[in-house]
Amino acid sequence: ERQQRIRNFSIVAHIDHGKSTLADRILEMTDSISKREMKNQILDDMELERERGITIKLNAVALTYHAQDGEDYIFHLIDTPGHVDFSYEVSRSLAACEGAILVVDATQGVEAQTLANVYLALDNDLEILPVINKIDLPSADAEGTKAQIEEEIGLDTSEAVDISAKSGLGVDQVLEKIVQDIPAPTGDLEAPLKALIFDSKYDDYRGVVLSVRVFEGTVKKGDQIKFVNSGAEYEVAEVGINSPKPLARDLLMAGDVGYITASIKDIKDARVGDTITAANNPAPEALHGYRQMQPMVYAGLYPTDNAKFNDLREALEKLQLNDASLTFEPESSQALGFGFRCGFLGMLHMDVIQERLEREFNLDLITTAPSVTYHVYQHDGEMLEVENPAEMPDVTLIKSIEEPFVKASIMVPNDYVGAVMELCQRKRGQFDTMEYLSDTRVNVIYHIPLAEIIYDFFDRLKSSTRGYASLDYEIDDYRPSDLVKIDILLNGDRVDALSFISHRSFAEERGREIASKLKKIIPRQNFEIPIQAAIGSKIIARTNIKAYRKDVTARIHTGDPDRRAKLLDKQKRGKKRMKAVGRVEVPQAAFMAVLQTD
Ligand code: GTP
Repeated sequence: ERQQRIRNFSIVAHIDHGKSTLADRILEMTDSISKREMKNQILDDMELERERGITIKLNAVALTYHAQDGEDYIFHLIDTPGHVDFSYEVSRSLAACEGAILVVDATQGVEAQTLANVYLALDNDLEILPVINKIDLPSADAEGTKAQIEEEIGLDTSEAVDISAKSGLGVDQVLEKIVQDIPAPTGDLEAPLKALIFDSKYDDYRGVVLSVRVFEGTVKKGDQIKFVNSGAEYEVAEVGINSPKPLARDLLMAGDVGYITASIKDIKDARVGDTITAANNPAPEALHGYRQMQPMVYAGLYPTDNAKFNDLREALEKLQLNDASLTFEPESSQALGFGFRCGFLGMLHMDVIQERLEREFNLDLITTAPSVTYHVYQHDGEMLEVENPAEMPDVTLIKSIEEPFVKASIMVPNDYVGAVMELCQRKRGQFDTMEYLSDTRVNVIYHIPLAEIIYDFFDRLKSSTRGYASLDYEIDDYRPSDLVKIDILLNGDRVDALSFISHRSFAEERGREIASKLKKIIPRQNFEIPIQAAIGSKIIARTNIKAYRKDVTARIHTGDPDRRAKLLDKQKRGKKRMKAVGRVEVPQAAFMAVLQTD
């Protein structure tokens, strides 16, 4: 029976432990694409992913493996992103599998995302195959890493394979273990269709392409399908597998991983995590665990050139077809003109979107400092959700404010526990528990405001533990905080795009910090520019940018036209990503100054 020879699995790891490198080796050692076509990290096909060396969108690929028992097996390898911003996608892709290969870097050992991924895998009842990677490196400690996995995660490592994903050493044993230890899928071919969407992307010709795992029944071209959560119905245009190029098939059946297209134009009809069933013979219940993705941080995106507003809208619409977790709505700012307030899953997601907009759509953008969503309770009993600090109601109307907290797990060697706790306290963290994973390592759990995590928490954590701590967090709940809005005035005018929210006890310090940072960032102009920070009408900090009158080229002899042209050109390029706010030319960096720390 065909099901018996299918293996569906993912590779999970902490960032940089070698997941994509192992995926490359597995692709080479199975039949999918010829070695000639092999590029490094073929699964990371987006240009940006390749440059940054990180996995953003997950992908599935079907491979044929000739096992030592003489049989051919179909492997469906599902790649997962490693970053905490994308953990929902990881959990969906794991739900499509029967097993997971857990890659642990033998020079680093268990880290926070290792643990988080193991929990996700266990939640989905997966068979976990531990693999110890990078054993070619002199600093590798395979035995120590295994002991750590046993002690801190409680996984049996007696059969763990030592590998070098880079050289390929040991990867053949991993392939055999996949056949022997990961269970074949089960599922009734006669039952009503039940398939999980674990990824989707937009293709200009085919519309939305859904990556699916079929759990029950079958699906083929012409079938009328229904999305359980969105309620939308479509006729299937094509089914197939990725090898890794799309290859049409007659039918996908229970146990298969593949793709479905149905001329779907709106990705919102078919979101990741939704269940597909037959329109005329629906499954009695959906697959568990569907979650609507909620943006966690918001920022304003504005074209430096106001005439590009519609181009920005079109670009955002295109990106959203690929990425249902991106949200945007138009907003306007007195300082920046017309733009969009965009919602992102986290800071990395925001970075990626901004870079794609600039690179793929050739837009020059100003991004405002990201903010979380505050719950503002007014005296009149109304609760406002405020995503933009500039929209915070007047202090006199506010009864109380709540902000989102995360539950942060920080794994750290014993010696640094003190430093970590001090940092968490300083970042307004509330202690939860501390658990000894071994004699030398501790998992410290705190509830910390998301706004502080966005601000500079991770950098501080790394520097106060010499890089030894690792962080994982999940959104927890809203808790009351004593927060105030701080306004920035340039040349006497309030600049709405520079307003930010701060805890009252940090307000003066942050106000002074920002004023002095802006003084450094904003270039001198031919008049003096006062910078002020204010809470309501009360000024809490002030400084001045002195006037500057000289033309940079004035001292250059006209006899040196080359140099003069170069300088002028440099000045002109420096003007990009500048925005005139009133009479003041403000560079992009100023809008992010609130986030930068020295
Ligand atoms: P993300 O995709 O960002 O989650 O990272 P990843 O886990 O996929 O890591 P990736 O495969 O990109 O590997 C990270 C780095 O480790 C790269 O520079 C690899 O070349 C290197 N690396 C991976 N495996 C090995 C190995 O076995 N030995 C050595 N020496 N380096 C390796």
